[in-house]
Amino acid sequence: MAQRESWATRTGFILAAVGSAVGLGNIWRFPYQVGEQGGAGFLFIYLLLIVGIGFPVILVEFVVGRNTERNPVGALKRIGSGAWTKIGWVFVTAGFVILSYYSVVAGWTLRYVLLGLQGNYTADGALDQFLGAASGMDAVVLHAIFMAAVIAIVALGIERGIELSVKLMVPAIIIISVGLAAYAFTLDGATEAYAYYLSPNFSTIASNWTTILPAAAAQAFFTLSLGMGVMITYASYLGEDRNLAEDAGIIAVLDTFIAFTAGLIAFPILFAAGIEPGASGPALIFVSLAAAFAELPFGGLLGAIFFGTVAIAALSSAISIMEVVVSYLIDERGIGRVPATAALGVAMFLVGTPAALDLVFIDLYDGFANSILLMLGGLLLSIFVGWIVPDLALEEISKGIRNVGSLGSTWLWFVRIPVVLALIVLVALNAWEYFGFLTGDFADWLNTNL
Ligand code: PFF
Repeated sequence: MAQRESWATRTGFILAAVGSAVGLGNIWRFPYQVGEQGGAGFLFIYLLLIVGIGFPVILVEFVVGRNTERNPVGALKRIGSGAWTKIGWVFVTAGFVILSYYSVVAGWTLRYVLLGLQGNYTADGALDQFLGAASGMDAVVLHAIFMAAVIAIVALGIERGIELSVKLMVPAIIIISVGLAAYAFTLDGATEAYAYYLSPNFSTIASNWTTILPAAAAQAFFTLSLGMGVMITYASYLGEDRNLAEDAGIIAVLDTFIAFTAGLIAFPILFAAGIEPGASGPALIFVSLAAAFAELPFGGLLGAIFFGTVAIAALSSAISIMEVVVSYLIDERGIGRVPATAALGVAMFLVGTPAALDLVFIDLYDGFANSILLMLGGLLLSIFVGWIVPDLALEEISKGIRNVGSLGSTWLWFVRIPVVLALIVLVALNAWEYFGFLTGDFADWLNTNL
């Protein structure tokens, strides 16, 4: 068997993991979730969940990946038995579904780069412009172009494809985001926007926790690329000398920094243009932010830079999702990297196409994969690591750490009880919400369209 690939450098691994984490989740999804859930209260709960659930679950995935040096399906076959070996399938399915619609949304960002360069953002017609761009033949073509870029990078392999491309993309995302936030700071609406974004109202949290909590948890999983084996896969190409806890910390901090910065960009720009952030949902950055760019000096150029950054961030995440499914086909089915990537890309393109034709499929896919499968995957893997293979997990997490002290055992207990219990409740709440969507909006859509 050919020797398994590995990361050329530690920075390469960290940048790839950060590149995976930082994506549409941070710049598209995060600001509209903050808007929908009422501002700073959401941010507060989200930060708690990143620390309390996100960080420990990154480590759960890391220990499994590095210990087994396998893709998520192979990893569980190696250290698990019976039904546990099937968890990997939850991951691969989630990856497949997520990338198929993720690529559609990424296609919208490409469209908005073009609109900006042509100076075509409009304040009054922003919603119609978005609806035109979001669904239809153009959206299908841009979805295809984005998917082709993902295929090209992943087909080149870990070192020459993924590692090289993230070394360029991730620093660019960080620098441009900070620059745009600094610009947003100078706008008239900034003070008001910061108050909305940064001072939580605890009574609002208390009365809305049943919606804020599951939404914040789904966002935390999505943004950290958790629950579908990306971190298993990336850690499987990692050596034993690495301190996993340190790397997980760096990834969580950088990801949170970029999401936080996206808020510092979006809210002042919206407030400066007098736009209410709560109402737009998934259209927020496309409708409201583009409308705001239409009003600003050099708005077209600024918008093109902003949406270009979002597109790059989406690409560095999309390649990680593809890599999960590709690594499964390579390791378990003995298929070559290039044919595996190409075939998957085409299949995902086809599954995603309905989402490029009608927005309801974005909600259908996103609700299922993001709000249910990711957290279910995280829950099952945490039970497995915490309760079924605790000794292996403790040993693996200690490797590469000089003074491990009680870090390993504290982490393990945390995973075993609080993380598992919280995830059970959260998966149930999200499943209930999704059931409401299937029997409500989606049923209505089926009735009208079929
Ligand atoms: N973390 C990515 C983002 O924030 O856009 C999305 C993502 C990538 C989710 C990989 C899940 C995943 F496995």
